[in-house]
Amino acid sequence: MQMKQILALALSIASAEAAYKGFNYGSTNEDGSTRYKADFVSQFKNAKNLVGTSGFTSARLYTMIQGGTTNTPIEAIEAAIEEETSLLLGLWTSGGGIDNEIAALKSAISTYGTSFTKLVVGISVGSEDLYRNSVTGVESDAGVGMNPEDLIKCIESVKTAISGTSLSSATIGHVDTWDAWTNSSNSAVISEIDWLGFDTYPYYQTTDENDIDNAQALFDEAVAKTKAVADGKEIWVTETGWPVTGDSENEGVPSVANAKKYWDTVGCSLFGTTNTWWYIQQDYGASPSFGIVGETLSTTPLFDLTCPNSTTTSTSTASTASATGKTSGKSSTGSSTGSSSGAKVSGFSAGRKGNGTAAASGFRSMTASVPLASASGSSSTVSGSSSSGSGSSSSGSSSSSGSSGSSSGSSSASSASASSTAYTGAATRPAGSIFGAVVAALALAIAV
Ligand SMILES: *[C@@H]1O[C@H](CO)[C@@H](O)[C@H](O)[C@H]1NC(C)=O
Ligand SMILES: *[C@@H]1O[C@H](CO)[C@@H](O)[C@H](O)[C@H]1NC(C)=O
Ligand SMILES: *[C@@H]1O[C@H](CO)[C@@H](O)[C@H](O)[C@H]1NC(C)=O
Repeated sequence: MQMKQILALALSIASAEAAYKGFNYGSTNEDGSTRYKADFVSQFKNAKNLVGTSGFTSARLYTMIQGGTTNTPIEAIEAAIEEETSLLLGLWTSGGGIDNEIAALKSAISTYGTSFTKLVVGISVGSEDLYRNSVTGVESDAGVGMNPEDLIKCIESVKTAISGTSLSSATIGHVDTWDAWTNSSNSAVISEIDWLGFDTYPYYQTTDENDIDNAQALFDEAVAKTKAVADGKEIWVTETGWPVTGDSENEGVPSVANAKKYWDTVGCSLFGTTNTWWYIQQDYGASPSFGIVGETLSTTPLFDLTCPNSTTTSTSTASTASATGKTSGKSSTGSSTGSSSGAKVSGFSAGRKGNGTAAASGFRSMTASVPLASASGSSSTVSGSSSSGSGSSSSGSSSSSGSSGSSSGSSSASSASASSTAYTGAATRPAGSIFGAVVAALALAIAV
């Protein structure tokens, strides 16, 4: 074998074992202003240069539409091409804006060609739409959602739209809270997609023992329950994180030390083995705030991002799956319930961005799907990578994702209104007890 071939083989093996790693990025800045190419470039560049880690070169988007336009492709695409950042595309489906989202997607394909499509890790049709339509979502005024039948129509429309284009082989998924996935009324959606996007925030699982020391157990339990209904499809972790500042949620206490512990345990068990888009790089004016660099964009994080024992990563991931059993046992009281609540919580978390207003936006942005299941996830991931080429990579920062997300919504005509509503809802999250009761009921239903 010639050196060239050996190198090529080595590269293909390396990419096969890799997983995408990055952040969530909304279409607006933290102050609500529209994000343009330069803003995305700054975010992607910063993510690639974070001190103490490397490889955060993927970006999850919530909308295909540039803020302030009807259906012009989001400028994050040009930034991603320039920064060689891979993209988990998102189309905002709730609220009736799918046609403009698809128009922007098709326009991006024809405008940028393979320099764009080679960066695409996958396409998420929707974000937490099922959650917003669930009992908990409705009770918490989470905003305009979508029923599974309409969501499936959107998924089919996107498949038709990419057919025959240079994105025809892109994998299609949907991002939602984990309890939306475990709700059997939504199972037809799973049949339509290639991977499940998964959002989970143990910090918000207020009916569980959600102190930081139990966070990984709660997370693993949510993964296991989702895997159980995933039909063998990959789970991509689209959103997770722990706040550095803000109010406590039951036993969940925001702090830099706890955010670091969450990164070191949950994060480091995923990085490199499961496609993961962290929430978030930068979080401005939010409470709680999840930004790992704080409010100001900087390559110096608030805590050491170096994974404790890098060699442990794969192992940990593997344990995720099995962890479930363990978790359940542990939290007999809370754990089962917890999981369910977790899902709902996720939705909330998404909304958390900034004060009430901001929060709404956050919801949108935060929604995402990630491959949790390390095993299967990795494989898919890999495939995705190859198709994308080397490109995947930049992860961006995500703090604004939350807000951005909402903005995204706004930008897209109809989506906009939906988003606003949703956000508002987020702000008015139901009281813990009510929420808890719903969660508990859900947990029971699941258990049965
Ligand atoms: C389960 O999903 C269906 C369809 O999305 C939804 O109408 C229902 O409210 C969900 N159930 C719960 C308990 O949220
Ligand atoms: C990490 O490495 C240190 C030093 O070798 C060891 O003491 C510790 O147990 C390891 N931690 C894990 C989680 O493997
Ligand atoms: C929310 O943000 C708006 C706009 O920045 C501000 O006027 C308002 O006081 C904030 N509300 C809270 C509760 O922080």
